[in-house]
Amino acid sequence: MRVLGIETSCDETAASVVALDGDRPRILSNAVLSQIEEHAAFGGVVPEIAARAHVDALDGLIEAALADSGTRLADIDAVAATAGPGLVGGLIVGLMTAKAIAAATGKPLLAVNHLEGHALTPRLTDGLDFPYLLLLVSGGHTQIVLVRGVGDYQRWATTIDDALGEAFDKTAKMLGLPYPGGPNVETAARQGDAGRFAFPRPMKGEARPDFSFSGLKTAVRQAATAIAPLSNQDVADICASFQAAVTEALADRVARALARFRAEYPDTARPTLVVAGGVAANRVVRASLETLCTGHGVDFVAPPLALCTDNAAMIAWAGIERLRAGMTEGDGMEMAPRSRWPLDSVSAPIVGSGRRGAKA
Ligand code: KG4
Ligand code: ZN
Repeated sequence: MRVLGIETSCDETAASVVALDGDRPRILSNAVLSQIEEHAAFGGVVPEIAARAHVDALDGLIEAALADSGTRLADIDAVAATAGPGLVGGLIVGLMTAKAIAAATGKPLLAVNHLEGHALTPRLTDGLDFPYLLLLVSGGHTQIVLVRGVGDYQRWATTIDDALGEAFDKTAKMLGLPYPGGPNVETAARQGDAGRFAFPRPMKGEARPDFSFSGLKTAVRQAATAIAPLSNQDVADICASFQAAVTEALADRVARALARFRAEYPDTARPTLVVAGGVAANRVVRASLETLCTGHGVDFVAPPLALCTDNAAMIAWAGIERLRAGMTEGDGMEMAPRSRWPLDSVSAPIVGSGRRGAKA
């Protein structure tokens, strides 16, 4: 089985071919083009610029992904594209391109939830069995999700305000660090003193399982304003202190979920926590989660960095999982892009999540 995957939900244009030989998945190609340069001058992703950049780049990337994998369009079994959640302009570009390929080749179209792509990645990289616990930390989402099967997700925790990647990006902006903020905060933090600023550890110890990062963001702003103008060392110290607060807050929330998982699934042979999403590329975050898991006797899986951040291999793989499970209902030419599309459609919306559902 060979599936072409397409990803255009945010600021990466990506195409990939993934194969399944028997039970063994193989990434045959994985082409990603980041739009960092297009957005850098604006300090963040500009939706209209992103959509146009996807239009410019996508055809070439699909050609490259097919060529790298030695695949002709006639050889693919299906085309899978991200249909949401994300920036609607970009989603339209990817989904319409996929529909055109499906129409021209007569192959099925699979409309994939971007979050499901992240959620199923450890099965592509590590052959993980269900159930497992997923910590999804990206620019748009911060959730702990119980992954029970393909299409079977239960949200155990989510953020009540900002997503963690968003908190990294806003912190970077306040400190004058360039976009994209997360990696730059991590780099600056390496030279910093994590003990200099006592930032809050949001939600730590609270009975409610969720995350919150807007208070931390405010604390960073107040600290930065109080000592402005900032030297490079001040910036590094704030970044290190911010990262320390984030890792401690994450560890507290994740520890809670691990305990719940152990209690509800005592027979799972190898209880596992998976971390996914762009913030999972952060080495300090990864190391702290790994230590936490070791302490709880839980396996820790972090996909390779290139498969943590947005890519199309995870979309092709989610397509393969759905095809293999015979779950293609609701796909097809009538599928429209969805800017919001919760992975777990059953969990109640959280307070403050707005009329159209949770923001993050
Ligand atoms: O999953 P992703 O590539 O796109 C979304 O679906 O949002 O995540 C992007 C987010 C951005 O907020 C970015 O700043 C953050 O992931 N990020 C990081 C790092 N690399 C990317 N945050 C902290 N440390 C990093 N090294
Ligand atoms: Zn993502």
